[in-house]
Amino acid sequence: MPLLPLNERSSWKALQTHAEKMKAHTLHGMFAADPGRGERLTVEAEGLFLDYSKNRVTDETLKLLLGVAEEAGLHGKIEAMFRGDKINITENRAVLHVALRAPKTEKIAVDGENVVPDVHAVLEKMAGFADKVRSGAWKGHTGKRIRNVINIGIGGSDLGPVMAYEALKHYSQRDLSFRFVSNVDGTDFAEAVRDINADETLFLVASKTFTTQETMTNALSAREWTLAGLGGDESAVAKHFVAISTNAKLVAQFGIDTANMFGFWDWVGGRYSMDSAIGLSTMIAIGPENFNAMLAGFHSMDVHFRTTPFEKNLPVLMGLLTLWYTDFFDAQTVAVLPYEQYLKRFPAYLQQLTMESNGKHVTLDGTHVATETGPVYWGEPGTNGQHSFYQLIHQGTRLIPCDFIGFAKTLNPLGRHHDMLMANVFAQAEALAFGKTAEQVKAEGTPDWLVPHRVFEGNRPSNVILAEVLTPEVLGKLVALYEHSVFTQGAIWNIDSFDQWGVELGKVLASKILGELESAAEPEMMHDSSTASLIRRYRKSK
Ligand code: F6P
Repeated sequence: MPLLPLNERSSWKALQTHAEKMKAHTLHGMFAADPGRGERLTVEAEGLFLDYSKNRVTDETLKLLLGVAEEAGLHGKIEAMFRGDKINITENRAVLHVALRAPKTEKIAVDGENVVPDVHAVLEKMAGFADKVRSGAWKGHTGKRIRNVINIGIGGSDLGPVMAYEALKHYSQRDLSFRFVSNVDGTDFAEAVRDINADETLFLVASKTFTTQETMTNALSAREWTLAGLGGDESAVAKHFVAISTNAKLVAQFGIDTANMFGFWDWVGGRYSMDSAIGLSTMIAIGPENFNAMLAGFHSMDVHFRTTPFEKNLPVLMGLLTLWYTDFFDAQTVAVLPYEQYLKRFPAYLQQLTMESNGKHVTLDGTHVATETGPVYWGEPGTNGQHSFYQLIHQGTRLIPCDFIGFAKTLNPLGRHHDMLMANVFAQAEALAFGKTAEQVKAEGTPDWLVPHRVFEGNRPSNVILAEVLTPEVLGKLVALYEHSVFTQGAIWNIDSFDQWGVELGKVLASKILGELESAAEPEMMHDSSTASLIRRYRKSK
């Protein structure tokens, strides 16, 4: 029997009635009534500890949210993904990033073929290559060893690699430099190569499709720059370029020997690909052993997601809490606030993962969704954000659920720094939840006229996620946690979290407009008056 629209289901209606009541409850009141709440509403699994007690939920809320997940068939949907069903229905593709980190012994079939041996064959090829670059055995065209590795890619072919490199820099080989070129703005490429030499530089051209305009344009510029630096000898390309793609034909056409190509498969979405060959820069930076540890971290979270009852399931709980605020509290965003400098690109990485996945307005059957879907994810590492946008989170008019991420130990012990950093995590979550009343402000001797400005309403929700220390394994777990939280949300909203048709229209229009910008003769234009006049203005002044 087809499912009713989400907002017509009995589980949803029950949650809606409950949500109205919950609006009158405060975190202050809920903690006062239940002193054990801060210990009870926590889950620890796979080395990650989640304190979700500072959310505007009760046991009843959780029960009702779990009911919504059950009625939406979340169990069955998780199994369908792990089984290799073609759950990306608009592209008729399986969604199997979980196979990228499956142990060799596992069997996961797509169209009857076990894909796990192929995954491990690519991992081994990557390891052999990474070892050669790291040891200096891989020589450039003039016989010099490689010192600079430049990943050229965009979206999932950039954000994962750059985030992972920054996150795991502590474990990286420091005599190699890593750079990432993504933007079609020539400045990105020019700045990446301005102080280095072609004879010591290796380009990794990362593109699932090998058709992406930005990446192909940058790759061509890199080819020209390399040949110009190496006397124009075409045979240099083989030593200075490798490709990471699913498209062997276009890789060969570009002039990269397919022996120097690292493949992956159409069942890996771009934003779910940092642990595929797209992670080659990560593997060169941290070495195959650390890369494998990262994969083991991903895998342990996969197993947790698949096998743990929902009430103790980290990604399910996080996904449900996001849905709670998005659909019942009108929250439009989620702030992700890592208190770990190495995770400075984590929020940017999550933006593609979450918003390209769940920024959808139709359900799987093509009808308009009946509820709000994916919130905007954003954030900055702590404590920097505290001196910029936290004002709005504390005293603004919008509800912004926050995920604080902290670690018991730092990789760079330095005096009191780490205790200070962590004191801020705990303080921010406490301040958001409990605020400061007018009475408290007055009692401090604040003049009456100033009191309202200094009141903190509190009742602002947050999660605190703690791990011991940032290792490759922990990074894998954190990324998989958010991947599966996104899955949980998308499964309940009944949307296709794995396509991205919303990026198409702009791409098509840009290539049409490019012709108009470059044409020698005045182009005949079929645009609205605003676009046409902008194009004319640019043509005149360029
Ligand atoms: O922005 C659209 C998109 O298709 C992303 O989903 C993808 O990660 C990115 O472009 C890059 O694609 P490719 O790896 O094929 O170059």
